[in-house]
Amino acid sequence: MKVGDGSTDAKRRAAERAAEEVADGAVVGLGTGSTTAHAIEAIGRAVAEGLEVRGVATSRQSAALARAVGIPLAPLEAVDGIDLAIDGADQVADGDLVKGGGAAHTREKLIDAAAERFVVIVDDSKLADRLDWPVPVAVLRGAEGVVADRIRELGGEPTLREAERKDGPVVTDDGHLVLDGDFGTIEDPGELAADLSAIPGVVEHGLFVGLVDAIYVGSDDGVEVREYE
Ligand code: A5P
Repeated sequence: MKVGDGSTDAKRRAAERAAEEVADGAVVGLGTGSTTAHAIEAIGRAVAEGLEVRGVATSRQSAALARAVGIPLAPLEAVDGIDLAIDGADQVADGDLVKGGGAAHTREKLIDAAAERFVVIVDDSKLADRLDWPVPVAVLRGAEGVVADRIRELGGEPTLREAERKDGPVVTDDGHLVLDGDFGTIEDPGELAADLSAIPGVVEHGLFVGLVDAIYVGSDDGVEVREYE
């Protein structure tokens, strides 16, 4: 099975178990993607039954879904803190993640890292021994050429992400372009994360290193919960 090919049921199982962590009165970071959508729907059902929460969305997509299922939203700057963030991932190895398949990783990292507890939800097709998924790198418009050169100097092969139903590149919710940097097997995710962050013109990259508190892994058999220090 290739990464990202997991079953909808496995995604839903992981998402619904994680949504049970949402406490009454909590401020919840709402990730982006097909797995997190199941969690947002589950939280919406709990809200309909009386749970009081406020959601902080990581993208237009998660904001729209949260509104549709009745979750009250607040902007990041209007909350004192985030109690729990729930988010998906493109690949997971040893508690480190590659995110950004939906080009939302800049706000995802901001909100996930700000949360008191950050819970990742994936189906078991996302698990790997070592990270080797191309790393999305959001860049300022006009910086894509110089940042691509720096990615090559770090041993990566950058590809400007193209839009599917628009001529030209993907433009993120915040107006940035995305380079997908293929580094093959990433030997030291922490080192690469620091190197990418240090490139002028890089807004944020999709390596999430040392941020996760728990990973819920859904499979055909159930959900495994992995806790991290
Ligand atoms: C959004 O940019 C991503 O970080 C998603 O969280 C990630 O791609 C997981 O998405 P799926 O749950 O749809 O696989």
